[in-house]
This record gives sequence, structure tokens and C-alpha cells, in this order.
Amino acid sequence: MNVMVAGGAGYIGSHAVKQLLDAGHKVVVIDNLFRGHRAAVDKRADFVQADMNDTDVVEKALREFQVDSVMHFAALAYVGESVEQPLDYYHRNTAGVISMLRAMQATGAKRLVFSSTCATYGEPETMPIVETMPQSPINPYGWSKLFVERILLDTVAADPEFGFVAPRYFNVAGCASDGSIGEDHKPETHLIPVILQAALGQREKVSIFGTDYPTPDGTCIRDYVHVEDLCNAHILALETLKPGDAKFYNLGIGKGYSVREVIESVKRVTGVDFKVVEGERRPGDPPTLYANADKVKAELGWEAKITEMDDIVASAWQWFKNNPNGYGE
Ligand code: UFG
Repeated sequence: MNVMVAGGAGYIGSHAVKQLLDAGHKVVVIDNLFRGHRAAVDKRADFVQADMNDTDVVEKALREFQVDSVMHFAALAYVGESVEQPLDYYHRNTAGVISMLRAMQATGAKRLVFSSTCATYGEPETMPIVETMPQSPINPYGWSKLFVERILLDTVAADPEFGFVAPRYFNVAGCASDGSIGEDHKPETHLIPVILQAALGQREKVSIFGTDYPTPDGTCIRDYVHVEDLCNAHILALETLKPGDAKFYNLGIGKGYSVREVIESVKRVTGVDFKVVEGERRPGDPPTLYANADKVKAELGWEAKITEMDDIVASAWQWFKNNPNGYGE
């Protein structure tokens, strides 16, 4: 297929680009490089630097590269920032997809894989999370993605030739197994990279955000899925996507690890000891989130290959150790 990867210079997008190319697809990346890295884009892919809200430019690129399918990763993804700058999130994450859909409509590209998030569920009352549970986000980031889910359903209703799959991600971690690309967020706030930076001596300490949660060790529990497993689900989704499809899948490993368990894993894997302090809760953090991933297994035959925290940490550590300054830009 001829695939446009929107946000293909970002963490998850760049790993998807690599897998698409390895699977024999032709790829054009479109990215405004606001938070992405040009160096993360596989050299086999074409590259267009543009903003997703620039519909004319997106449309021109879709035509030029004869794109039939789009994977859309381009988004802002910091929950705290979304509370402070909601309009930026609705502009980039929601309007940006409307712009892409308009461009796709104009050129006749009919297949879309769109990155959604478990943040659309808000704070579910029971675990694990299944796709049919009520969606009630607790921050603008979650809403910006849930609005797109609604828009996509309406788009299929209006055009049965269109089809989409929207995976809802849990906590994505790890890096490419060949060490070529990895995670480089500025600022970095995600747990595993933050702990690895402490192991590298780049941070003085790791703060545990809350130790009085109703969980066995008092710290928050999350479902960490390896980025290569996650991207593999996207390829399966794209390759089996049919006109009229409107599908949502939880992408997680189906079990959770606590913050303390992740810290212990990093100490084991790296062999480095570092300072850990117990801090206050971070506003907006639900105590426990993990997926029921039965639907994606039943329908796409997908299952995470990496399910042990030590293996996820070892993968991320390989990248952080070899690239302590990320892409170095
Ligand atoms: N945490 C710490 N200390 C840190 C960083 C994180 O204790 O220095 C804790 C957080 O409080 C949380 C857990 O580690 O309990 C994981 O935090 P992350 O920031 O790594 O990830 P989140 O679960 O907050 O966020 C993830 C995605 C978001 C998505 C969200 C949905 O990164 O994009 O899940 O809830 F919106």
C-alpha cells in the first residue's frame, strides 16, 4: 500500500514507519517537526514537512505520493499541558484530523488507522477496561481524541467506502529492537524514560507521584505495552481494513505494573542504584488502568509478545544508554 504516516517523526509514528517499510509498504511521512525529530524518520521513507491543519498541502502530498491509506499519529500528548492549553489540543488533535479527513475525501484515500487513547475512558470503575465501557474523559487530551472517534463514526456513516480502525493505547514504552530509533520527548514526563534518565545520572532522583493509592503497594498501576508490539497491531489493522469498518481496539498487554515495580525493574535491568523519593499525587492520575485486550486478539489475532516489565525496560535502556541525548537536536 501507499501509506501516509502523519506524525511519522514522533516516538510511536517513527516506529510504525519502520515496520511499514519492513512489511513492503511505500511510506510518505508528513510531520511539522514541532515535537518530532527528522532523524527519527527512516531514510527509505519520503518526507514532507507540513502541518496537518494545512489541508491544501496535505491534499497535495496525498496526490503526489498516490496515497491510499493513512496512519495518523500526529498529536500533542501531555495530559497536564492539555489542561493548561486546551485550544492547542483541540486544534492539533481534533481539527488536525478533520483537515486530514477533508484532504482524504478530496483525493479518494479511504483507509485510516487513528491513534486513540485509554484516556478516553476517564476513570473507569472496574478493571480491566473493555472497549464497550462508558467513555468519559477527565482532561482535554482525552476529549480531543474522543471527539475524533465520534467524527470518524459519522464519516463512515456518510461514506460507506471509508473505513477506520482506532486503537486505544495504554502506556507505550520501549524502543526499536535494532537500536536504530527510540524515545526522545522534550520535556520528558513518562515514567520509564524518567527513571532511566535517573539511572544515567541525568536526573538527581525519581519522585513517586503518590504512595497512598488503593493499590497493593500504594502506587499507581499502568499497562505498559512495547512500541513494536503496538505498531505491529497497526500494520495488522491496516492490512485487514475494509470499507465501512469502524473499529476500536484496546492495545495493552492486559496486566498492570505499579510505579514501585517499574522502579525495581529499572534497578535490576540497569544494575544502577539511584535516589527515589515519595512525593505527592499528580493531579488527574487514576489509581489503576489496564486493558482487556481480548477483542484485538479475537479479531486481528494480535497479542503482545513482550509482557514482562524487565524486557520492556531492557529495550528502552538499550536506546537511552546508547543515545543519552536522544536525537541530539
Ligand atoms: N509517575 C511517577 N513519577 C514520575 C512520572 C510518572 O510516579 O516521575 C507515575 C504517574 O503518576 C503514573 C505512572 O507513573 O501513575 C505513569 O505515568 P506516565 O506519565 O508515564 O503515564 P500516564 O499513565 O500518566 O499517561 C499515559 C500516556 C498518556 C495518556 C495516559 C492515559 O502517556 O498519553 O496514559 O491515562 F493520556
